[in-house]
Amino acid sequence: MSKPTSFSGVQPSGQPTLGNLIGVFQPFVAFQDSHQATFCIVDHHAITSRPNPEDLRTNTLGIFAYYLAMGLDPAKCTIFAQSHLPQHTELAWILNSFTQMGELERMTQYKDKSQRQSDNINVGLFDYPVLMAADILLHQVQHVPVGDDQLQHVELTRDIATRFNNLYGPTFTIPKAIIPQVGARVMDLQEPNRKMSKSRPGPGTILLTDAPASAAKKITRAVTDSLATIAYNPQEQPGLANLIDIFASLNNQTPQQVVQQFQGQQYGALKTATAEAVASKLEKLQTAYNSYINDKAELQNLLQKGAEKASATAEKTLQATKQKVGYVLPSSQK
Ligand code: TRP
Repeated sequence: MSKPTSFSGVQPSGQPTLGNLIGVFQPFVAFQDSHQATFCIVDHHAITSRPNPEDLRTNTLGIFAYYLAMGLDPAKCTIFAQSHLPQHTELAWILNSFTQMGELERMTQYKDKSQRQSDNINVGLFDYPVLMAADILLHQVQHVPVGDDQLQHVELTRDIATRFNNLYGPTFTIPKAIIPQVGARVMDLQEPNRKMSKSRPGPGTILLTDAPASAAKKITRAVTDSLATIAYNPQEQPGLANLIDIFASLNNQTPQQVVQQFQGQQYGALKTATAEAVASKLEKLQTAYNSYINDKAELQNLLQKGAEKASATAEKTLQATKQKVGYVLPSSQK
């Protein structure tokens, strides 16, 4: 039986954190085995916050180097940059006419971002979910691995696809979101009720560029509680649960297994073990990352090959869509 197909995108913006590593990169590596997986570096999405051009270029290759450093293998999966396939923006334009203003106005990420960048509420920010729908639908995938903050966008994608299919007959595969279980949400080490975020640098956030020793220190100084009982209880013991989640996902265990392992011990034991796991992970990752990022020509070459691999399905979907909508296709594409 052939494997199910999947598509996911990551924005090339800013410094990835331990939260991204555990919640995004690690699950991706599992996906390349369980799925016919496609990963896309979504540079078109990134410009909605109008980054500095040099930063965008650096981060695009940087994210790719992190993917490779984590173990994504271009021979097993497909990795490419969104702007390398013009079909993404073309399909997004078509889908714009099958998406209602009201649907986009309801998107919570749009509302959040409009508050955060209130001086730059551009049309791209508003239209962002339609481009994301185009990303997914273009590749006809069954599964979309995403964080829970993206669920609403995948729901919208399903709505748009269903609407289009109802109007024109089967065109798009209806995709399903898949949320990684363990470590889906790594929390801030100092304020464990908030998600760890690169926009709040400091002792609560571990960046993948942190020196391993200083990352370890952030773990041993993480906020816990005074209950002094090792248990997995995200509501009442959020700081402890966060450490358990981090340890569990770095060691491929369940939170329950971690609780069992540390039962009856003091928090210090779990903190030390977690700090060591984080430091050793970062050390390996940084060594691999440096070797990839220092060969930009090879990174570009691999991205190019990824785009070529992804283009056949993308082009087929786009042509079928245009045909159904009633465009006159150039005679070479009939
Ligand atoms: N919006 C996603 C995010 O911010 C990134 C993304 C763009 C994406 N296109 C996608 C995720 C397609 C999954 C599928 O995380």
